[in-house]
Amino acid sequence: MIKVAINGYGTIGKRVADAVDAQDDMEVIGVTKTGPNFGCQLAVKKQYPLYCTSDEEEKINLFSEQGYICHGGITKLLELADIVVDCSPGKMGKMNLEKYKGAGIKHIFQGGEKHELTGLSYTSCANHKAALNANGARVVSCNTTGLSRTLVPLHDNCEGISVECTMIRRAADPGDSQRGPINAIKPVLKVPSHHGIDVMTVKPEIKINSLAVAVPTTLMHVHSLVVELPPNHGLTTESVIKLWKEQPRVIVMNGTENRIPTTAEVMELSRDIGRKWGDLHEIFVWEEAVSLKGNKLYYFQAVHQESDVIPENIDCIRALMGTNSDWKNSVSITDEAISRYNGI
Ligand SMILES: NC(=O)c1ccc[n+]([C@@H]2O[C@H](COP(=O)([O-])OP(=O)(O)OC[C@H]3O[C@@H](n4cnc5c(N)ncnc54)[C@H](OP(=O)(O)O)[C@@H]3O)[C@@H](O)[C@H]2O)c1
Repeated sequence: MIKVAINGYGTIGKRVADAVDAQDDMEVIGVTKTGPNFGCQLAVKKQYPLYCTSDEEEKINLFSEQGYICHGGITKLLELADIVVDCSPGKMGKMNLEKYKGAGIKHIFQGGEKHELTGLSYTSCANHKAALNANGARVVSCNTTGLSRTLVPLHDNCEGISVECTMIRRAADPGDSQRGPINAIKPVLKVPSHHGIDVMTVKPEIKINSLAVAVPTTLMHVHSLVVELPPNHGLTTESVIKLWKEQPRVIVMNGTENRIPTTAEVMELSRDIGRKWGDLHEIFVWEEAVSLKGNKLYYFQAVHQESDVIPENIDCIRALMGTNSDWKNSVSITDEAISRYNGI
């Protein structure tokens, strides 16, 4: 049984904890909060031992004042675990990495950190083998994960693809009142944006550039893609669709026939699936908008930003612990366990 600590029990942390809890080969050994707030109740309900992100007695004591049992600070938690999944807010990784190195523990960071922090970025379909038995890795962001899911199988079929992508990004997560815009479209003025380039940290052979805009929605990101395939690629629109339908964690669906024209209906579909929080771990591709003209492939895909990276963290744990070297096998174990856990 792999003992997993979750440092940071927020949007990503609480989802990773449940995904770990769903697996037969790993267990949640503890989760951390900065202090007693509403997320602690969920940890108590799930019977995940609560720890403090800090080792300061004063901060640890605050939990009991609010009626929560805090088992200690982060150092104590790290002593009990085989691996820590860092789900702290972006850019805290450098500080936390020192703690993990001090404890001599394997560690996984999230996409809010830079590739350079661990020197190894991860997404299951792109580079599972490269992460086997590594000490630390970064699971790439929701956008990079989404891009990899559809681009890596294309690359595997015909090497030499070149991609231009526009990321239409949700302004904030549903539970986040701090971010915006709420009545504007905000282009990322650093061109190209970092999103596309980040794919090359897991699959350097894919040439990709991206532009990004934030729009006033909380539901999903949408990617608008143009992929230039190499000459003699041998693909057709139909064979590309077939390729993606056979790819794990990609849903290809006709939006017109199924009356799923927007991200609102995609999210409703995911609520029907029955996963907690209405999550959709899969990338959604609108089938009728996939179009291959000559060597240019056009398509749109939607990414549920809060959840597509969750099963990737589970596969990454197995890679770092060296317990499963076959990415497709790990993915199927992960996804089946999550489905059972959610009762579907
Ligand atoms: N949200 C998304 O859509 C999304 C998607 C993909 C990747 N990511 C990445 O995932 C990471 C986490 O993002 P999030 O959205 O889950 O953030 P979040 O909802 O703000 O949660 C962050 C959690 O970290 C805790 N925390 C604060 N300071 C900490 C510290 N020094 N050490 C450890 N934990 C600390 C917070 O504790 P309290 O609850 O006590 O404040 C909170 O539980 C970021 O790198 C982000 O870029 C986010």
